[in-house]
Amino acid sequence: MNRSSRTVDRRWGVSYKTRTWSAQVAQSVEQWTENPRVRGSIPRLGTTSKTEVAHLRDLIFCMGKTVERCPRYNPLMTKAKVKLGILISGRGSNMKAIVEACESGEVPATVERVISNRQGAPGIDWARDRGIECRVLPHRDFESREAHDRAVVGDLKAAGVQWVCLAGYMRLLSPWFVEAFPQRILNIHPSLLPAFPGLNAQTLAWDYGVGWTGCTVHLVDAELDHGPIVGQQAVPVEPYASVDELQGAILKQEHLLYVRALRRLLSQEWRLDGRRIVYCQPS
Ligand code: GRF
Repeated sequence: MNRSSRTVDRRWGVSYKTRTWSAQVAQSVEQWTENPRVRGSIPRLGTTSKTEVAHLRDLIFCMGKTVERCPRYNPLMTKAKVKLGILISGRGSNMKAIVEACESGEVPATVERVISNRQGAPGIDWARDRGIECRVLPHRDFESREAHDRAVVGDLKAAGVQWVCLAGYMRLLSPWFVEAFPQRILNIHPSLLPAFPGLNAQTLAWDYGVGWTGCTVHLVDAELDHGPIVGQQAVPVEPYASVDELQGAILKQEHLLYVRALRRLLSQEWRLDGRRIVYCQPS
């Protein structure tokens, strides 16, 4: 798409000149119109008429950015960021996906702490190298579950953490922990809950012979893999030759799902209706 150079009004607080649209910008036009999340954010900018929306779209295209990546016009990016804490016990691949999504601006949050309950968890080294403050609090050093939870929560609160993401954290949280962050703790589980809660969910699904399994992100309550469901992604079993392959395919989806679910919860207004999460439309 080509356009000659012209100056456009200052309605949005800046003047700008259109340029020749590159293929990349043209592609972002398509993304913009296809992406319901971005379309959903337009009314929040106070734009009502089609002409105003078109002006805004033009402006952002001329800056060579999509609406989502433009801090000036994307309300999600200008809002104060949420402070996250992430708890892990091992490899931490879900943690990495969350950290990277926060760093890229895809999730409107900053990771203030990573805590492991296991000495030598590989995810901790990765997070430290990334400049994130980390703690190792082995649960065996504490006399009870709650004593351990109190130490973890104390550290999260000291860091100003508002939301907690469990990412392969192999511990059931005490009711005391859950109440310390009411409806502000997320977990990811490698099955379509309520099927196959607990350990080895992928093997249980494989052995059971299900046609489809997948992963679930849910709010955490005091029961194992049980709280309200935020998002799910189904994965077919048949294409995979072994449970290891299936596990790998689910893990890939986990990384995408966790970021999607977190982004949605942090950027949209929502409430609980029983176990159901109801998102409120932007007015
Ligand atoms: C993931 O499969 C997650 O669903 C489960 O534990 C595993 C953790 O993997 N809760 P990673 O440490 O995030 O790589």
